[in-house]
Amino acid sequence: MFKINENYLKLPGSYLFSTIGKKVAAFTKANPDKKIIRLGIGDVTQPLAPAIIEALHSAVDEMGQAETFHGYAPDLGYEFLREAIAKNDYKDRGCQIAADEIFVSDGAKCDSANIQEIFSGDSKIAVCDPVYPVYVDSNVMAGRTGAYDPKSETWSDVIYMPCTADNDFVPEFPKETPDLIYLCYPNNPTGSTLTKDQLQQWVDYANKNGSVIIYDAAYEAYISQENVPHTIYECTGARTCAIELRSFSKNAGFTGTRLGFTVIPKELKCKDVALHALWARRHGTKYNGAPYIVQKAGEAVYSEQGKAQLKEQVAYYMKNASTILEGLKSAGYQVSGGVNAPYIWMQTPKGINSWEFFDYLLEKANVVGTPGAGFGPSGEGCFRLTAFGTYENTLAAMERIRQL
Ligand code: MLT
Repeated sequence: MFKINENYLKLPGSYLFSTIGKKVAAFTKANPDKKIIRLGIGDVTQPLAPAIIEALHSAVDEMGQAETFHGYAPDLGYEFLREAIAKNDYKDRGCQIAADEIFVSDGAKCDSANIQEIFSGDSKIAVCDPVYPVYVDSNVMAGRTGAYDPKSETWSDVIYMPCTADNDFVPEFPKETPDLIYLCYPNNPTGSTLTKDQLQQWVDYANKNGSVIIYDAAYEAYISQENVPHTIYECTGARTCAIELRSFSKNAGFTGTRLGFTVIPKELKCKDVALHALWARRHGTKYNGAPYIVQKAGEAVYSEQGKAQLKEQVAYYMKNASTILEGLKSAGYQVSGGVNAPYIWMQTPKGINSWEFFDYLLEKANVVGTPGAGFGPSGEGCFRLTAFGTYENTLAAMERIRQL
């Protein structure tokens, strides 16, 4: 008789955003006349920028001609895209990342879930708490997290680093030394950031202790403050201890188009084995590469026209972020985030937990958000709203919340 991977059975409930999707679907079915405003999952609402559409059209035309047709993409991604990334995201910021240290993929969610595969099964992971649930869930599936305690909603073998208003959302170095440290900045879900000095301390810590930092920089396009690093490679020594995950979803609207990449510097080694070689091996075996058409669209993100259009799109979402920040403040809520990130983190009213608040907002205001508890135990008592809605819906949501 075949056997299943029993680690999957340890996962409580469904994936956070699937649970929310089901709840909203049930509410919609029962209340078909209600106009629901979705500020839950961080999904973009603005159409792809004209420069990207133009690149897509022209790549589609190429695929229809024998002379310009493309079959399988190269394992690591097309050179034209990796060169554009290396120049714009790294060289222009003074960081030494070569095109062949960049692995193009179909998005940061998959990469952040899959990257753990190249590490030993007994690696100890550390996560910020609250945290994007994919990091922990994927390690549960791999059998790395020990037993689940439903009371505390924690895993016995995971090191949780609380990031709350009490410590200004900055994780402290854990007592026990982790092998893998997941950091996401600008942060999902709290919208908080680390300064360059704070991130440098983590890089120094990782190098000193032989840990690897898996740095999720999916939201870097939203950084507005000078002292906030756009990439971990702005820190000295990051090439020997950090992997960076990036996405085209949030900066360029590719949540449905799918494109992302992972950076693994060649110096990042365990004894004499380069992680770069392991990830390349995995990519070659398990991944077919993002489509040529999509990689051409990704290249257009870095054109002068593309950059200007996407700057406007980011500004559009950040106007939503200030609308939410101001709206919630004027309704009497305590809020943070929303300055360098498209997420606003709010305290739920006293005595109401985050799932109760989710139901309350859905029923009374027909607004969908994300309960903080879904991101980890320290998220309880908090709630996340995204700035990725339309401006009109964002305004309407604030009006509805003010009237509660
Ligand atoms: C979120 O809402 O946290 C993200 O959009 C989910 C994702 O990017 O996978």
